[in-house]
Amino acid sequence: MLQTGLCELFKIDHPIIQAGMGPFGSGAELAAAVSNAGAIGTLGGAARPIEELRDQLGRLRDLTDRPFVVNFTQPWLQQNPEHFATALEAHAPIISLALGDPGDLVKRAHDAGALFVQQVHTVDQAHLVVERGVDVIIAQGTEAGGFTGMVAMPVLVPQVVDAVGPIPVVAAGGIADGRGLAAALMLGAQGANIGTRFLASDEASIGDSWKHGIVEATSTDAVKAEVWDEIFPKPGAGAFDVVPRALRTAFIDEWQGRRAEAAREAERLQEDIWSGIQQGRMEDFVPFTGQSAGLVHEILPAGEIVRRLVRGAEDALRGTAASTA
Ligand SMILES: Cc1cc2nc3c(=O)[nH]c(=O)nc-3n(C[C@H](O)[C@H](O)[C@H](O)COP(=O)(O)O)c2cc1C
Repeated sequence: MLQTGLCELFKIDHPIIQAGMGPFGSGAELAAAVSNAGAIGTLGGAARPIEELRDQLGRLRDLTDRPFVVNFTQPWLQQNPEHFATALEAHAPIISLALGDPGDLVKRAHDAGALFVQQVHTVDQAHLVVERGVDVIIAQGTEAGGFTGMVAMPVLVPQVVDAVGPIPVVAAGGIADGRGLAAALMLGAQGANIGTRFLASDEASIGDSWKHGIVEATSTDAVKAEVWDEIFPKPGAGAFDVVPRALRTAFIDEWQGRRAEAAREAERLQEDIWSGIQQGRMEDFVPFTGQSAGLVHEILPAGEIVRRLVRGAEDALRGTAASTA
């Protein structure tokens, strides 16, 4: 059985985290399906109204009695601090944060009995969050879907492992099958944080056209949408420097080439995107997706994705052991 220290810490069978993806797919159904399959699911808490977060937390408790993670982004919590308190009041066993300095959130989570996981994109950010006292670090490569930095996963992970040991490090970005999971473990990670592969699952709460878009995409279709910076105001203090990676759309193609105009039209474009999110039409705008879309060939039940990841990693590691014996 594929077990690491992360499994012991989180009380799970398989070293796989289904990534937090805000309201895009990472709802209670997906998180519960992943946790029930012996890995750990994440409820995305960013960009959701507070009532929806409460409903989703209740639904998740109804669907699983296994451990789960509740995820936020630092810029979202700066604007919506009550979301964090809501997750702690619901006794979330694990909180994860991305996109900025966690500050005193780590202590608040620990005081409430929760573990704290932080996603980073550079070694310097890893040093910073170690000082804050985090329990687990996710080192996310630029291949990933959603907001990412500049460094590729296989380059970043071993550097972060060297910098923060013995704190467990989890790899994110570009991992969609057992070979990727095995490679992450060989780089020194204790597990994988996987988003894009789980978006193309039966349980992910995104539209079918986005799921089919992932299945049909090649890796070069998952582009960095730098124009996001012109449309949305820069987050405040403590935010990490990131750019979203998403499947190309007519919207991205149109505005990437007209960034000055996008800045002038920012208010209108923000409204378009927000209403797209609320209506479940993010795939028309900036459908966050990683380069690993090129490795995803079918929509599957989330539990089956977990089983294939584990079996594939075991096979890959056995093959490596055999060929180096
Ligand atoms: C649709 C989508 C939304 C995301 N939103 C968040 C988020 O709200 N919080 C977060 O920590 N990470 C978010 N991420 C990044 C993931 O946590 C993770 O790092 C990434 O999906 C891993 O790379 P992969 O997509 O290649 O598996 C998002 C990723 C995607 C694809």
